[in-house]
Amino acid sequence: MKIDRWHRLLPAVLPAVLLAGTLLLAATAGAERPLAAYGHVAPSADGIGKTYMGREIAGVMGWEGAQWLERRSRAGEERPDLLLQALAIAPGMTVADVGAGTGYYTWQLAQRVGAGGRVYAVDVQPEMIALLERQMRQRGVTNVVSLLGSERDTRLPAASIDLAIMVDVYHELAYPSEVMDSLVRAMKPGGRIVFVEYRAEDPAVAIKALHKMSEAQVRREAGAHGLTWERTITALPIQHVIVFRKP
Ligand SMILES: C[S@@+](CC[C@H](N)C(=O)[O-])C[C@H]1O[C@@H](n2cnc3c(N)ncnc32)[C@H](O)[C@@H]1O
Repeated sequence: MKIDRWHRLLPAVLPAVLLAGTLLLAATAGAERPLAAYGHVAPSADGIGKTYMGREIAGVMGWEGAQWLERRSRAGEERPDLLLQALAIAPGMTVADVGAGTGYYTWQLAQRVGAGGRVYAVDVQPEMIALLERQMRQRGVTNVVSLLGSERDTRLPAASIDLAIMVDVYHELAYPSEVMDSLVRAMKPGGRIVFVEYRAEDPAVAIKALHKMSEAQVRREAGAHGLTWERTITALPIQHVIVFRKP
């Protein structure tokens, strides 16, 4: 008898139930950004065959090539001194070196933040982390915390970072959108995220095409994460430094 009554009631209540369900779904979907739209192409020599916002993602630089990161000529070619000076890294800051590799920039950042500051050095290759830790030991650096990240997550603590820097890294993130989500979560409000990439606009920069990025492309991709572009530093010989803030 009761079931009978429900059957008769159902046509009357069904539209209301469907409407409520649709509204609930719309509200839930609005709370999250849609999943990143990755595409696929035939892999080029230096790429992984996966596209994001109109570019093919480059392959990760393997730890076997780590010596290149420590090459003697690098200081003259890239002028890390100018980069670190321009970023005004102050004692006491908490900095994240994402895709830190052997730690070429990590120890220099650690010197600048001093004993009262800290540098998180994140990398996805355990071998790079081992090389980085060895370099920090050899240099007697004690304010660096190394972190083995995943392809999608930096694993940095939430709301802890004043400045995050990626030197020659972003173009080779296999999941750039997910890594950026995790990085934005890790930033303090007002914190800066710094992209250092070889200039794609300049044909004289002798670096493989997928390992260079244009300023416009970086700004498009960072903009998708609600970051505010602050400035682009053009003082380096072959890279540009594109600085954003978390609002
Ligand atoms: C070309 S190296 C640059 C290393 C360092 N930033 C430097 O300039 O000397 C790129 C580094 O990014 C790391 N990497 C790639 N994908 C990553 C990810 N999803 N999360 C963290 N590190 C990543 C690689 O393992 C590699 O050590």
